Amino acid sequence: MKSKLDVHSLNSYYGGAHILTDVHLKAHESEVVALLGRNGAGKSTTFASLVGLVEKCSGSVIFNDEEICGKPTHEIVRLGLGYVPEDRRIFTDLTVEENLLVGKQPARDGVREWTTEMLFEFFPNLAEMRNRPGGQMSGGEQQMLTIARTLMGNPSLVLLDEPSEGLSPKIVEEMASAILEMKKYGLSVIISEQNLHFAKLISDRAYIIEKGVIRYEGTMTELAQNDEVKNAYLAV
Ligand SMILES: Nc1ncnc2c1ncn2[C@@H]1O[C@H](COP(=O)(O)OP(=O)(O)OP(=O)(O)O)[C@@H](O)[C@H]1O
Ligand SMILES: [Mg+2]
Repeated sequence: MKSKLDVHSLNSYYGGAHILTDVHLKAHESEVVALLGRNGAGKSTTFASLVGLVEKCSGSVIFNDEEICGKPTHEIVRLGLGYVPEDRRIFTDLTVEENLLVGKQPARDGVREWTTEMLFEFFPNLAEMRNRPGGQMSGGEQQMLTIARTLMGNPSLVLLDEPSEGLSPKIVEEMASAILEMKKYGLSVIISEQNLHFAKLISDRAYIIEKGVIRYEGTMTELAQNDEVKNAYLAV
């Protein structure tokens, strides 16, 4: 299988604090990968490093056969790496549809171009409120909207930082099926999660990070059966 993202020896620092140590991570085409770990383990720092948002970092990040470590964020995003951070922000005065149009980017080679109509099919709950101002949506609905807006940039890989956090059970289900649809569509998706339950629904493989170090790597099926690892590193 062709690898979409291949990360080696990623080291990141906030000021003098060494946060990530020799992190490695891989995602193939059409694969959902989970980066699991407890509070403060380094999940968000890993994502931020991949998209060039951590000032001091070193290592190798190969995205689509190209080295992107050290490139500026706008260039990385233009190459097709989509990123939905923890603090999702939408434009509260703009409607759902207008929020989507803000994310529009030109089409990219080899990646189908998203339109708002396609996204409304993907996220039926957003279609029902396309003319509603973003400020009048629930937190979970806003979360869906930030993911949909990121897709408007036509990425081939998407990083979702804790996509299930704070969602109602109904929205969690919709989120899971949206991510599985993204995979069917050919996208690679890397999610970060604190616990296994949501990740188990959608992920092919998993990594566990603790104190900035990757402690475990395996298929999701293997991890689900490994109580020792789960008890050591996850909130289960
Ligand atoms: N801007 C920052 N400056 C200094 N230290 C930071 C900064 N952001 C995060 N850290 C530290 O880096 C470590 C990793 O944090 P990170 O946010 O990556 O963890 P996380 O796995 O995403 O946790 P959570 O599940 O709580 O979101 C923590 O010790 C945290 O205190
Ligand atoms: Mg985080």
